[in-house]
Amino acid sequence: MKPYVFVTRKMPEHLLSDLYEIAEVGMWEHEDIPVPSEVLQKELERADALFSLVSDPLRSQQLAKCPKLKVIANMAVGYDNIDVEHATNKGIVVCHTPDVLTDTTADLTFALLLATARKIPEATDYIKNDQWQQWSPYLLAGTDVHHKTIGIVGMGRIGEAVAKRAKGFDMEILYHNRSRKMETEQQLGAKYCSFEELLQQSDYVVCLAPFTPVTKELFDQQAFQQMKNSAIFINASRGGLVNEAALQEALEKGVIQAAGLDVFAEEPVRANHPLVQLPNVVAIPHIGSATVETRDAMVKMTVENIKKVLEGKPPLAAVNFKELGV
Ligand code: GLV
Repeated sequence: MKPYVFVTRKMPEHLLSDLYEIAEVGMWEHEDIPVPSEVLQKELERADALFSLVSDPLRSQQLAKCPKLKVIANMAVGYDNIDVEHATNKGIVVCHTPDVLTDTTADLTFALLLATARKIPEATDYIKNDQWQQWSPYLLAGTDVHHKTIGIVGMGRIGEAVAKRAKGFDMEILYHNRSRKMETEQQLGAKYCSFEELLQQSDYVVCLAPFTPVTKELFDQQAFQQMKNSAIFINASRGGLVNEAALQEALEKGVIQAAGLDVFAEEPVRANHPLVQLPNVVAIPHIGSATVETRDAMVKMTVENIKKVLEGKPPLAAVNFKELGV
């Protein structure tokens, strides 16, 4: 009997052909609606493999009854939606999609930084709302990016790719990370510093660290207070790293200048979310890796991860490979 794979969102069929060859495939039929928990629960009772998204919570509650499950393959580099420890205890391999999205996410992060600094969304609205009457010296005047200091919190693959882009803008690069990145320091002239030093010295504070119990609300009231009043905060990681009430207060009181946010603590956010409504916030809907090329590559990598585990081979990228010896 072929193994059963459940895919939690409608995916392009042609990218799943490798799965159809080796497995019976079930798929939630909607592209824009997450699979309801009761449907997921039922599917998990019979699935050998799960193709999941960041919007699927897979905690102990959801993983309580999955007797045959061998692999959860998340179509994302982040996997904070999954209780990895619980999965590991059950012998379930947890896979993700690093590398294929690095440059695309770095492009978006830098685009968000530029858009926030140079008020691009406000400027496009200005024309669309027919407000452009004449050229004025300080009309929509933003803040320079070139030759400023960028502070990258979380110097993983995406952090390094953002640093490369920053070098092209002649920026001074500071970073804070769990470990030193000597190669990045040598190649890009990035300087390692403490979290506090980074906050105090950076013109652009860019959050790219993963969301873990340690980084939860790392950016709190105290953190924003240490930043320059002119600082621009960019978050392209996870909303959970930010205390959103503290960010809102910092933006409203001029403790920092502006923020560009691709991620929020609870997603999706509605238009009436207090941060979204602020004039000094550029908000976008978690689209870091959203290009057709990269999303296709992520689907293919997720399929490959599942296929490998079901064939008893090492997957391309598993987060608990050491613990499970795969
Ligand atoms: C998206 O947020 C990802 O983790 O890939």
